[in-house]
This record gives sequence, C-alpha cells and structure tokens, in this order.
Amino acid sequence: MTEPLIFELSSPTRTTNYIDDGDVPARDVADLLPADALREGLELPEVTEPELVRHFTRLSQFNYSVDTGFYPLGSCTMKYNPKVHEDVASLDGLARVHPLQPEATVQGALQLMFELQEYLAEISGLHAVSLQPAAGAHGELTGVLMARAYHRHRGEDQRRIVLVPDSAHGTNPATASMAGCRVVNVKSNARGGVDLDDLRALAGAETATLMLTIPNTLGLFDENILEISDIVHHAGALLYCDGANMNAMLGQVKLGDLGCDIMHLNLHKTFSTPHGGGGPGAGPVAAAAPLAPFLPRPLAASRSTTGTVAYYLDYDRPLSIGQVRSFYGNFGVMVRAYAYIRSLGPDGLRQVSENAVLNANYLMRRLKDVYDLPYDRGCMHEFVLSGRRQKAAGVRTLDIAKRLLDYGFHPPTIYFPLIVDEALMIEPTETETRDTLDSFARALIEIAKEVVDKPELVKTAPHSTPVGRLDEVTAARHPILRWSGASERRKG
Ligand SMILES: Cc1ncc(COP(=O)(O)O)c(C=O)c1O
Repeated sequence: MTEPLIFELSSPTRTTNYIDDGDVPARDVADLLPADALREGLELPEVTEPELVRHFTRLSQFNYSVDTGFYPLGSCTMKYNPKVHEDVASLDGLARVHPLQPEATVQGALQLMFELQEYLAEISGLHAVSLQPAAGAHGELTGVLMARAYHRHRGEDQRRIVLVPDSAHGTNPATASMAGCRVVNVKSNARGGVDLDDLRALAGAETATLMLTIPNTLGLFDENILEISDIVHHAGALLYCDGANMNAMLGQVKLGDLGCDIMHLNLHKTFSTPHGGGGPGAGPVAAAAPLAPFLPRPLAASRSTTGTVAYYLDYDRPLSIGQVRSFYGNFGVMVRAYAYIRSLGPDGLRQVSENAVLNANYLMRRLKDVYDLPYDRGCMHEFVLSGRRQKAAGVRTLDIAKRLLDYGFHPPTIYFPLIVDEALMIEPTETETRDTLDSFARALIEIAKEVVDKPELVKTAPHSTPVGRLDEVTAARHPILRWSGASERRKG
C-alpha cells in the first residue's frame, strides 16, 4: 500500500473556504515581507478541510508507540510512563518558571531540585548529585571529565586511559574519547561478566577509570563487582558505573556501597520521562564524597536561617568542572522524576525493579528453547537471545524482527550487543502484564516455526504494514528527500 502525499490529493476544485473574509482590510503582503522573500506563485495542495484532517490523522496512526503496543526495544526501556506525571510537569507554576527569575520567587522549583538531588543520592548510595546533564551520554561525558579533573588535582594528569568492557553500552567508549581519553577494551568472561585477569593486566598507573555498564548490555549484573572495584582502586583508578538501567536495581542495591565512585542515571528511561521520543532527557551524575567537589556547578543547595529553610543555587564550588549545560538542566524532566519517586515511595520503587527483573526472566525462560541463549543465567531487566540457529536455516535476525511487525509487535533491538551473533536484545520492562508477555512469546515461537516451514514468508516480511520491506541500501545511498511529483517518485 502506498499512502498518497498531500500534493497528490490536490485538485483545484476541492478547495473550501469555511471562513468569511473579515472586514479588516488585508495589508498588502509586499508591505510585510522583503522583496527577495516574495515569489509569484506557490504550489500549495488544494484539498478540503476534511481531506486534510483525515490525511494527517491517518498518517499519525501509522506510528507505533508505547501507548499503542508492546515495545521491547532492548537497552531503551520503552516502558509506559504514568500520564499523571505529565500533568504535574505542565502545571503553570512549574512549566512557566523562567531560569533567570530571582531565587526568592522560585523557591518551590529549587526545593524540588534539591530534594531530587537527595533522592538520587540515596538511590545511588553516593554523596552528591548534579542534575545538569541533558542525556545519559552527556552524564558519561560529565563523569569522565570529573575523573580527569580529580586525577589532575592529585597530580596524576597521566591517567588518561579509560577501560571499557566489550559488553558496555556503545556510548561509553564514544564519550570517553570525546573527553580526550584513550579507550582500551576489556574482554568478557564465559559468564558474560568482566574478565578479571584481563582487567588486572590492563589497570595501571595511566588508568583514569573503568566504565562499567551495570547491568551490562547482556542484561547481566556482574557477579564480581566487588573484586572489580578492588582491582580498579588498587591501581589508583576510579570506578565509573553506567546506571542508565536503574529500573533493574531500584531499591535492591546501591552502587555506591559496591565501590562505585561516579555514576549517571537516565531520568528519561527509569524515572517517567519517555525515552526515544526525540524530547528532552536528563542524565544526572552522582559522585562519592572525594569526587563531589568536581561536579558541575551550580548545585541546588539549602540554608537555614532562624528556623526558615531557603533554597539557592550554589556556584561557590572552586574545583567544579564548570557548567555542562545552559542554565540548570531539563527542569520538566526533573519534575516528572520527582513526581514518580514521590508517588511510588521506597516500596514502590523496589517493586519497579522486582517487576522488571521478573518480567525479563519469565520471557527469557519461555523463549530459551526456541532461540539460543548464549549466557544462560538469571538476567536483570533484559536478556539477549541469538538467532544463529535460525540463520543456519537461512533466515536472518533482521527477517525475524520484520516478521514481528506482522504480529503487531515492535521488534527488539537487533545485532547489539556485538559480542552476540545475530543478537535479539529484549527488554519487556516492568509495566507489562503477563498476558502481553505471553502473546509476544507466542509470536516469536510461531515465527521460529515459520523459519522452518515457510522461510520465504519471514524473509519477505512485513506483509501487513503501510510500508513493506525497505531497500535499506538504496534508501541510505540515494535518499529522496524532496517531493518532485508522483511520476518522478514512482520512477525513483
Ligand atoms: C546503558 C546505557 N548507557 C547509556 C545510554 C545513553 O543514554 P542517552 O541515550 O540518554 O544518551 C543508554 C541509553 O539507552 C543506555 O542504555
């Protein structure tokens, strides 16, 4: 099915003018626009209002979203976020504050930031938190810059190597090199954790930090984290934890208690801001006491005078790496996180991680006999299957992902992490029911049968979506980005 473009619906007979001309004389357009911005004719589509409304409404319904279906996109935590937090974030008193308002007039906003810093410090088991970074990767960059500043302050500017396990999130090595560091890979062991011998051999006098994605991209919590922390600290380096997937650990473990020195959290995955919607995010950074002076400034702070508490922005932080974002961060995202934490409370937060881990383990066990499970042990919030058995039968993981669309599901992340051949990375999230998990499992089991019985059906999927299988190579090499008429488009 090819959806017409709005221009293709156009016909001069179809225009409808629903609004009478007003009695205010129109100004000549030439008085309003500079001469070089004027043109003689402009081909606009001529359609009736109902046609226009139906066209765009139909297009909007082609979108797949968390509000329309299950979205198990591994590593991305595409979970349902309660709408009430959107309402809270859009309250006038919060949505309309201006970053340059005098402190006395934004005490509520500053209190919210201050308390959110405290909650996140409690959740991470670390000393202090900056809310400034605008994304997870931005939090990582902030953390690595802090590690560099810390070592420089101690006269160890030579510590510029960042160790990154091969099971790390892809942003870890990228941000480390953006921070001017050299990235060295650490191998994984047979159980999907960090290979301790490799780590011991690599950690040394030039190591700034180890960046440990935890749980890692295999969805596994490193069983040897205490030993890892000892090895890194013994070498005089720091342990950075990528805590973007905190929904796996909320209320169960505080990474600060396990030796973590710096970590970031993704408010736009764990704490009720949608991830991947193209909207703003926040990647707050938490630091242990010796690292806290290096956090970006300002931090929200409080002072008590004659029994009254006042909140302010503390710029008096001489060792800070400075400001990493304009003003104070994405405030709306902070409001959602604050509302989420306050509405769930400690027990509710613990329940979040229990459900996330339970859902992932349930689904993993339902699927592990049909698809290969390279690391067969209890997972955290997600797990990684391999489609290598299906590939041997001539059907690729990409085909399986496309076929899932015909069953009405968004596919999981595929071909990541790189250390798993034909990877299918599945993150069901804590917000799904057992019924949904069962339907998804049934779909994947059915597709595995099709791989054997009707491979062509899978290899040519999807068959029921508005757009069929795209020629991805041509789309990348010869993108057609401009409308040039229906006949041209068909030729292209
Ligand atoms: C483990 C991990 N680290 C880092 C990131 C990067 O976060 P962002 O996309 O906000 O930069 C993600 C994103 O999902 C992640 O899962």
